[in-house]
Amino acid sequence: MMTLLQVESITKRFGGVVANSEVSFSVDEGQIVGLIGPNGAGKSTMFNMISSIFPPTEGSILFCGKKIDLLPSYKVAPLGISRTFQNLQVFKNMTVIENVMVGQHMRTKQNLSGVTSMLLGITRKERKVYEEAMDILRFFNLESLYDQKASSLSLGKLRLLEFARAYATEPKLLLLDEIAAGLNHSETSEMSELIKRVRESGVTILVVEHDMDLVMSICDKLVVLDQGMKIAEGTPKEIQANEAVIAAYLGAEIEEEVV
Ligand SMILES: Nc1ncnc2c1ncn2[C@@H]1O[C@H](COP(=O)(O)OP(=O)(O)O)[C@@H](O)[C@H]1O
Ligand SMILES: [Mg+2]
Repeated sequence: MMTLLQVESITKRFGGVVANSEVSFSVDEGQIVGLIGPNGAGKSTMFNMISSIFPPTEGSILFCGKKIDLLPSYKVAPLGISRTFQNLQVFKNMTVIENVMVGQHMRTKQNLSGVTSMLLGITRKERKVYEEAMDILRFFNLESLYDQKASSLSLGKLRLLEFARAYATEPKLLLLDEIAAGLNHSETSEMSELIKRVRESGVTILVVEHDMDLVMSICDKLVVLDQGMKIAEGTPKEIQANEAVIAAYLGAEIEEEVV
């Protein structure tokens, strides 16, 4: 199995706060890996470094064997890393299909001024982008909403659109940050089916997720962070039985009750 992503002894400090401390793990091609841990464990910080939003303080990140931690994010996306954001990044004033086209644009460099005139079918290239966007919407069960303004969507549909936009860049590695947050039971199971289908289409996936049932059912491997440190790594079954993990989660629950 080829290693796609390798995180090597990453430390990130924000002033006096140590958000990640000497964290190492790897993601193999074709895997779904879960990065879990209580609030403030450093999960989003790790995602921000993998997508080069900011550099690590120490350590290195390799993608396909190449060091990427010092690259600006506009150079990392074309290598094949895409992500969703915990606080969604869809363009609210654009339609559903236009949002997907923005994702495609990252890859095809299709002129954005073409996006709005797309339905007029001005060029064959634009027509092709439009049809591909509709295929992606179908894949995410959003095709009937293609001409709706993103601002009119429910949270569940917005999360699907955020996922579709990131998928449209045709990434090798997709980072999903709390993609099921705020979803109800049936939306969560739809999301879990979609994540598996995206993996089957050839995309490797790293997820940060609080819903333990979801994580346990879709992940091949889990990496557990607590207060910036990696406290465990293993299969869902191993992690469920891991005492350090149970203690970290129980500790977090007790703290929440006190607060
Ligand atoms: N941009 C930032 N500036 C300062 N501190 C930050 C920043 N991002 C995260 N932190 C701090 O780093 C720690 C880990 O946060 P985060 O990675 O968001 O955790 P998680 O996603 O696991 O809940 C927290 O103490 C948080 O306050
Ligand atoms: Mg977070």
